[in-house]
Amino acid sequence: MDAVIHEGGLGVDHLSFSQGVETPKPNADEVLINLKSAGLNHHDLFVLNGHHDSQQPALIPGSDGAGVISEVGRDVREFKVGDEVIINPLLWGTHTNVPPTNMEVLGYPRNGTLADKVVISYKQVSKKPSYLDWTEAGVLSLSALTAYRAVFTKGQVHAGQRVFVPGAGGAVATNMIMMLKSLGATVIVSSRHQDKLAKAEELGADEVVLDSDNWAEKVAPVDIVIDDVGPATLNRDFELLKFGGTVVTFGSSSGDEITFDLRRLFFNQWVMKGSTGGTQSEFKKMLELYDKYQWHPVVDSHIFNLRNVKQGYELMMNKSQYGNIAVTIQK
Ligand SMILES: NC(=O)c1ccc[n+]([C@@H]2O[C@H](COP(=O)([O-])OP(=O)(O)OC[C@H]3O[C@@H](n4cnc5c(N)ncnc54)[C@H](OP(=O)(O)O)[C@@H]3O)[C@@H](O)[C@H]2O)c1
Repeated sequence: MDAVIHEGGLGVDHLSFSQGVETPKPNADEVLINLKSAGLNHHDLFVLNGHHDSQQPALIPGSDGAGVISEVGRDVREFKVGDEVIINPLLWGTHTNVPPTNMEVLGYPRNGTLADKVVISYKQVSKKPSYLDWTEAGVLSLSALTAYRAVFTKGQVHAGQRVFVPGAGGAVATNMIMMLKSLGATVIVSSRHQDKLAKAEELGADEVVLDSDNWAEKVAPVDIVIDDVGPATLNRDFELLKFGGTVVTFGSSSGDEITFDLRRLFFNQWVMKGSTGGTQSEFKKMLELYDKYQWHPVVDSHIFNLRNVKQGYELMMNKSQYGNIAVTIQK
């Protein structure tokens, strides 16, 4: 099969396109999927830049993906050859509030979706929403699942609340705008780019501000902030937050470390919640919502393939994409 291989060192420079890679065989509880499309996420970058070093065997990266089942393991009754499916790359069970300590994300250490075939447990597979095209289906899982948990489970957002989402151009943020609107919240977003603000309004954002604007003047007060940008925005978010407000965070696109005034947190009775990924049941609920509202995930206009996927990683490193980054595998 064709695959993208990472080996010999850290970073995107150690990615290469390879043909004639051995096709994996599904175990008893696994399915083999002929992949039509995949998506790139920051996790894929973390794998290349840190988790997967030169001491480890060659790896096929990639977490998100969608395709057609071409073989089922002996014990699989839930799916058959020919089923069109999407992958949930998070190996996190159904009913736990926190991820298991040994949680894996497909694409490290197991081979992932940047190949024309992948094997995965049938439990990580769901029927593809029929109204989505392959490109959309291939990018859906990780960003939409992360958005679902941040908005519903952690944010506990309800109608009438004012919710601020900095960094409107991100894949998760584009999902959150749609989800927050479905709850009847007033959605306020920021971006460094005017064109991304216009697109956010098309998705449903009620109020938009440029990153360079005076946010406190333009959008305060808000009930909830859902911030995946980190140090570049978090202290400015605090200027907007009501007494007793909530901050949800699941990402740190502008850096991992931040200082803030602890007194503001406790005097204002704020609640800060961490979130990550989501459970299998949240994944199912996210798919039900997508189906109910017939949403389409936002896909950047630059679409890549297995031969030029390095450019997709570079787009993500430059943070210049809008929404999800897609990889076409088989037409
Ligand atoms: N914990 C989890 O399970 C999980 C899952 C998925 C993603 N994540 C994390 O969530 C974050 C978002 O991921 P993503 O793929 O949706 O989007 P992303 O590519 O990281 O971009 C997020 C947005 O943040 C804004 N931004 C980035 N750097 C900035 C800076 N220095 N100053 C101001 N704004 C900045 C940009 O918005 P504008 O371009 O609009 O200005 C950018 O589009 C990432 O940190 C990712 O690692 C976590």
